[in-house]
Amino acid sequence: MAVEHDIRDIDLEHGGRLRIDWASQEMPVLRSIRDRFEKEKPLDGIRISACMHVTTETANLMQVLQVGGADVVLCASNPLSTQDDVAASLVANNEIPVYAKKGEDNDTFFEHINAVLDHEPHMTMDDGADLVSILHTKRSNLLENIIGGTEETTTGVIRLKAMAKDGALKFPIVAANDSDTKHLFDNRYGTGQSTLDGIIRATNILLAGKVVVVGGYGWCSRGIAMRARGLGAQTIVTEVDTVKALEAVMDGFQVMPMATAAPIGDIFVSATGDIHVIDTHHLEVMKDGAMVANSGHFDVEINVKGLKAMSTGDAKLVRPSVQQYNRKNGKGAINLIGEGRLVNLAAAEGHPASVMDMSFAIQALAAEYMLKNSDTLENKVYVLPEEVDQEVARIKLEAMGIKIDTLTAEQEAYLNQWQVGTH
Ligand SMILES: NC(=O)c1ccc[n+]([C@@H]2O[C@H](COP(=O)([O-])OP(=O)(O)OC[C@H]3O[C@@H](n4cnc5c(N)ncnc54)[C@H](O)[C@@H]3O)[C@@H](O)[C@H]2O)c1
Repeated sequence: MAVEHDIRDIDLEHGGRLRIDWASQEMPVLRSIRDRFEKEKPLDGIRISACMHVTTETANLMQVLQVGGADVVLCASNPLSTQDDVAASLVANNEIPVYAKKGEDNDTFFEHINAVLDHEPHMTMDDGADLVSILHTKRSNLLENIIGGTEETTTGVIRLKAMAKDGALKFPIVAANDSDTKHLFDNRYGTGQSTLDGIIRATNILLAGKVVVVGGYGWCSRGIAMRARGLGAQTIVTEVDTVKALEAVMDGFQVMPMATAAPIGDIFVSATGDIHVIDTHHLEVMKDGAMVANSGHFDVEINVKGLKAMSTGDAKLVRPSVQQYNRKNGKGAINLIGEGRLVNLAAAEGHPASVMDMSFAIQALAAEYMLKNSDTLENKVYVLPEEVDQEVARIKLEAMGIKIDTLTAEQEAYLNQWQVGTH
């Protein structure tokens, strides 16, 4: 009999299995951790409740944790990001309880978070801090079991740091996001490519010759802007941070306020972690047929409520992930992609496996680190030591067949002295 679950359809397992194995081929770093975990069982007997996007890459991570001895359960960190065949495969082939259905309503989303908490975890693995937040507010009776947790994304880390600052955080967290081999690659190259993949799959538009407006110039948005330009779009960046704005200018992008870009753009995509970056006064003046999407963690970056209020009647579903709103002001249609939720997961498959390889290697090592250091860690947000990044990068380079130089003894000595300067 299958383990406990609430998924769409267990008969989808075969397709899920094939796709999970396909992703695994691109995840050499995680595979090497798997080999070690299989021998050492560092997570033996530990119950881990994970709230993450249910994708092929996450499935590989869950299996590594399980091989390492953990008892893992999984729910979705976003109502639209679940890949139902992956959920089915984890239940059918790995006996991992999964609670996630693509398109689940908000009540079900929170029921599923509660279901993974019913497993009384020793450790949490979160993407956006919803699990930790519910644990601290509605399920605080479970806190005494918890050794620590890990967090995958920028928005989650911001929320957890705010909790720590208020003295509200009741267990230590490792911010996987803040490791270099995570955000430098996942946020930039992963979000960069997969966000455009989501927009293209949803709309099938040609980006060459279009005006793409990117909200933000942080790790994710920088990647999106870079890739939009690479596909031939005239790319505009909006920012609130002067240094980032200057960087965008020097990287060759047009930089302007969103209000100036709003009537010019064809496609808008925001990835800032901030609220209402694309607000009603922007939506009011956009061109007929403008497309808007979000790749930030929560569905707050576009003022969707405002868009609904300024439109006549209900939105028309014009393609599977595109809702068309007709504005009352006579300016025509606005196309909302993926309901304003993470477009790369709502309309595509999330980040490619090769980049999640490093992010999830960091997650697996973070779980191990948390256990090993549980006696000394305080209720704060930690980053893994730099050597872990070096090691992840080393294995990745090796798997890519790339060799690099090492410091000679002379260079090592030179870089560690202060006496030799100008000759
Ligand atoms: N789609 C994905 O798969 C994915 C992957 C990783 C992270 N994320 C999420 O993407 C968001 C951004 O993450 P990041 O790592 O790039 O963060 P970051 O801090 O590197 O960048 C955010 C940028 O947005 C700018 N910003 C803030 N408010 C703004 C506004 N009103 N207008 C214009 N710019 C504004 C900030 O100045 C900053 O430069 C977070 O919510 C994160 O959780 C999504």
